[in-house]
Amino acid sequence: MSMNQRPINLFEFEAAAKERLPKEEYDYIAGGATDELSVDRNRRAFESWTLRPRVLRDVSALDLSTTVLGTKVSLPVLIAPCGGHKKAHPDGEFATYRAAAARRTIFTVSANSSIGFEELAKAANGHLWVQLYPFRDREMIKDWLRRAKAAGYKAVCVTLDSQWPPKRERNIRNNYKNVRGVNFPKAGAETPRPAGRAGEGSDPAATWKDLEWIKSATDLPIIAKGIMTGEDVELCAEAGADAVIVSNHGGRHLDNTLATIEVLSEAVAAAKGRLEILLDGGVRRGADVVKAIALGAKAVFIGRPLFWGLAVDGEQGVIRVLDILREEIEITMAKCGRPTIASIDSTTVVKAPRL
Ligand SMILES: Cc1cc2nc3c(=O)[nH]c(=O)nc-3n(C[C@H](O)[C@H](O)[C@H](O)COP(=O)(O)O)c2cc1C
Repeated sequence: MSMNQRPINLFEFEAAAKERLPKEEYDYIAGGATDELSVDRNRRAFESWTLRPRVLRDVSALDLSTTVLGTKVSLPVLIAPCGGHKKAHPDGEFATYRAAAARRTIFTVSANSSIGFEELAKAANGHLWVQLYPFRDREMIKDWLRRAKAAGYKAVCVTLDSQWPPKRERNIRNNYKNVRGVNFPKAGAETPRPAGRAGEGSDPAATWKDLEWIKSATDLPIIAKGIMTGEDVELCAEAGADAVIVSNHGGRHLDNTLATIEVLSEAVAAAKGRLEILLDGGVRRGADVVKAIALGAKAVFIGRPLFWGLAVDGEQGVIRVLDILREEIEITMAKCGRPTIASIDSTTVVKAPRL
């Protein structure tokens, strides 16, 4: 794609971002674990569900709004927690937050944010969630929970799939160094390998008791991220989580998993309505969003596309990414005869037989 053409979809956004970003940053963002099979599968698996169009249902007034843990969002696409937005644009998380607030959706701020939790919260009037790990250092968790609550964050996302560091071969080849975000006491230190063994890292010894403890340490809702089986959804429910994000971390931690969209039905069945089921991984088209909702997700998240938006045009780029998805969701909803999010039921999709 030529540089002076405006990207018209999220793939073109990625191509334009790739031209602008240093190679090692592009590789860090785009890449995944070992053979990147899960990165690829997250995308391709969306193709195995097809849409069932319905006609002659009044679709003159589409409503894409829904609620996630009681918060109203204007479309069922949220911003996933991703470290270091300054890698893609000097405004970093400020730009992302303003874009999310402008489009009335939720921004989950990563543990590795390049901007302080409090400072970021003042930059717009939107909805923030904070993401953390089951850190070994419980005092630090308490401190973050207190800080997030005081700064107006509305929920806590606990990422559970990162207790052991991954093998990311692009980063090894590029000798890529990732540093700790500014909210850590040892901000700027290089992330140790294995990350989990340090007091400030995700604790490899953590168990369900730690999730229960985090739940008991705050009155904010808890979202468990990185769940890929019905068994773990059940344990999340028992630990008191309010929602689950079906996620394989965009294929960045464990390779050789199923795609998230492939395990969504298993997660929804295990939840038995006790917790909200959300999903991320490979969402690049409006149709992907509609398929995930048809299969039982309350909403989805985007990860990498926010960096492509930032790299291309900062806040405006992220707004454009969200607007492209909105337009594609609208087309899909209209043509499937589903004017509201609630009307996107399981009969909206069918598993495609192999060609
Ligand atoms: C550059 C980058 C950094 C990320 N950092 C975090 C993080 O700090 N915490 C976390 O829970 N997930 C992190 N993720 C994973 C995302 O939250 C999300 O699960 C994933 O990106 C979704 O897949 P997608 O990129 O295909 O949309 C990161 C992802 C990327 C691409």
